[in-house]
Amino acid sequence: MPLNNLKSQVERNHDARILGHLPYNEAPKEKLVLIEPNIEVHMDMRDSLLKMREEAKKDGIYLIFLSGYRSINLQKDIFYSLKSIRNQEAAERARVSAPPGYSEHSTGFAIDIGDANQRETDFEPDFENTDAFRWLIKNAAKFHFKLSFNKDNKYIDYEPWHWRYEGSIEALKVFESSNRKL
Ligand code: DAL
Ligand code: ZN
Repeated sequence: MPLNNLKSQVERNHDARILGHLPYNEAPKEKLVLIEPNIEVHMDMRDSLLKMREEAKKDGIYLIFLSGYRSINLQKDIFYSLKSIRNQEAAERARVSAPPGYSEHSTGFAIDIGDANQRETDFEPDFENTDAFRWLIKNAAKFHFKLSFNKDNKYIDYEPWHWRYEGSIEALKVFESSNRKL
């Protein structure tokens, strides 16, 4: 095999993933904006996210924002305390929650979305059977949102509610390695 091919194969097989998650820096404080009580997001994605909610409403779909930016410290609590409370091994917990320093939420470019008319599907795989999800699958790309954790992910469970923004150069840079095929 030519050396170049071998090198790129080695690079592909050895990215920085831990338990299926890539490392992400925390968004700088000055880049975060509060869009409603308890929901902060990266300023690059605010307008697009709010516009998406408005457009959905015009179609009779009521999107609700469940979780946006989460600090690495908060992610630490979520990951380790729930892991411990639920008596789970790290790999098991990592199927549903990123280790601290490895969550898209810490970049400010991830948003968890629910259907205001079906709150029982919040953070549930069953969210995929809501009108909100069907609307998102049809329309989210227009607003530069993409589903992060699909059914084909070997390490991380399917998360139909978790979307990430790729509509600015900064966001594209952040998710560059994640979009590279392994
Ligand atoms: N639930 C996703 C994987 C996260 O914690 O970032
Ligand atoms: Zn999420």
